[in-house]
Amino acid sequence: MKARIAILAGDGIGPEVIAEAIRIIRAVGQKFGHDFTLDELPFGGVAIDEFNDGLPEHTLKACLEADGVLLGAIGGPKWGPSAPVRPEAALLRLRAELGVFANLRPVAVQPALVNASPIKPEYLEGVDLLFVRELTGGIYFGRKLKEAGRAVDECAYSDFEIERVTRIAGRLARQRRGKITQIDKSNVLETSRLWRVVTERVIRDEFPDVSIEHMFVDAAAMHLIRNPRGFDVILTENLFGDILTDEAAMLAGSLGVLPSAALGDNRRGLYEPIHGSAPDIAGRGIANPCGTILSAALLMRHSLHLEPEAKAIEAAVARALEGGARTADISTSADEALSTRAMGDAVLAAL
Ligand code: IPM
Ligand code: MN
Repeated sequence: MKARIAILAGDGIGPEVIAEAIRIIRAVGQKFGHDFTLDELPFGGVAIDEFNDGLPEHTLKACLEADGVLLGAIGGPKWGPSAPVRPEAALLRLRAELGVFANLRPVAVQPALVNASPIKPEYLEGVDLLFVRELTGGIYFGRKLKEAGRAVDECAYSDFEIERVTRIAGRLARQRRGKITQIDKSNVLETSRLWRVVTERVIRDEFPDVSIEHMFVDAAAMHLIRNPRGFDVILTENLFGDILTDEAAMLAGSLGVLPSAALGDNRRGLYEPIHGSAPDIAGRGIANPCGTILSAALLMRHSLHLEPEAKAIEAAVARALEGGARTADISTSADEALSTRAMGDAVLAAL
């Protein structure tokens, strides 16, 4: 197949991890006989420096025309909270422009990495959960106000926004163990009470074969550690999903190994590792590229509908890890830690 993939390396460790994912995508193209065109485009802090715009017009256009968008990471101390133009705003705009309202963040514990997690191994075996995080609404996109001595961030959700992301969760739950846990703060928040009513209705009416339970976000934060096997699909709003997925990443051993896919109503998607730009280690060639490589696998699966190719990448990462390949974030002994490039080599070899 012919496919066009927009590549946004971004800031910090973004370019380092993206370089490895590009090698894997090219190798998959060759192995399976596809014609992938990769367009590398400026985005995030580097684009602010060059164009005074984190999402320049030509980058956005290329993303809208691509079959899938692969992103490394954005942000850094140079464009901190007091900067006039911030890279994070560019990411939020890109998500909104692409219409990718559902963010899938699978958290599966790779058997080879059980000892890399700070959680005891007996809690981790068999953990396989999927976050479906609402991505283009809620407090991230509400009205903002800043005045002397006071600031406001509004959190608003409509029926429609909750319905469409619930349908994605319902479809995915069907392909898994058929259970959704919807997480909110409905003992306090009006938007959360709407989430409960709407998710309950959509699942009852349209997915009678799927079960749904509801949980407060504070309790969920605890249960994620106490009994992570108890979850299958976790459906939640934008902010809670952001926070809980970093927490859940610790089950998998490191933020560095987790991919994500952001999807909307058409097949175009935005794929990115869930980690940030890690300015503390940027430029040193030691970041873990697995989250980005696995994000490329999700791109193959969800945007290009190339399931065997997606599986081949996932199997290659698993095999590299089983073979003992470790970057510093998942290594138990510092002297054995591989560079970003060497980790990419190990995955390529396994592929
Ligand atoms: C994420 C990130 C982003 C978010 C930031 C960079 C805006 O933390 O993708 O989880 O909060 O959505
Ligand atoms: Mn986050």
